[in-house]
Amino acid sequence: MTKSDIVRVDMAELIVANWKSNKTRSEVVEWVDSWLNKFPPVALQLTQKQISVAVAPPYPFLDVVQPLASQQALHVAVQDLSPFESGSYTGAVSTRNLQEYQVRYAIVGHSERRQYFHETHQDVAKKVDQALRADLTPIVCLDDEYLQAQAAAISAEQLSHCIVAYEPLESIGSGDPQPPEEVEPVVARVKQVFGPVPVLYGGSVTSSTILDYLPFTDGALVGGASLEVDEFLALVQRATS
Ligand code: PGA
Repeated sequence: MTKSDIVRVDMAELIVANWKSNKTRSEVVEWVDSWLNKFPPVALQLTQKQISVAVAPPYPFLDVVQPLASQQALHVAVQDLSPFESGSYTGAVSTRNLQEYQVRYAIVGHSERRQYFHETHQDVAKKVDQALRADLTPIVCLDDEYLQAQAAAISAEQLSHCIVAYEPLESIGSGDPQPPEEVEPVVARVKQVFGPVPVLYGGSVTSSTILDYLPFTDGALVGGASLEVDEFLALVQRATS
């Protein structure tokens, strides 16, 4: 099975929870317990609709969310990845470090990484390379403004194995999602540039707005609305309706 097959067979839509640097260990334990209690009725609906859900916790809690990886339609993701192989890179988490975890997706190039950690398009391209070498599917976050520049830094072959998350900067964490009619043409542009890859929308998506985006995207990257288990479950449930 090739990597593009992995992306395609697995999902019609993907909803990714990005917890960023939120939560303590006990809060994560509580979230996971509560999710596993409430999830079974939703799991069947997700499978029928071929919708997958991935949870990207802060690194120290990767072990706490591992039980999710054994559930139907659920996956574990990481929020970032080292641009290098394992070795003397203090503070970085390499794909080798992740080998014994069941991680399926790696978010790379989130705008917060670009803004606060000064990541460049080249850095993101290296992370894509590391992810693909380890059979992780990269979720490349970008804004319309640098879509072309980011794509140019990644080889054409590797572009075709990525998932893209279109996240307009002003909509992230603002409570003000970009209107669907403005998102739709950008999604089309991403597909022109990257090829027929899955494209997620991210930026203040909630259970009330998820359905506005699903008709023309392949899912969503969800920050704030994924922190509370009931709101995230409602969002996922709404996606199956
Ligand atoms: P938000 O975050 O849903 O809180 O806007 C999305 C993201 O940054 O991935």
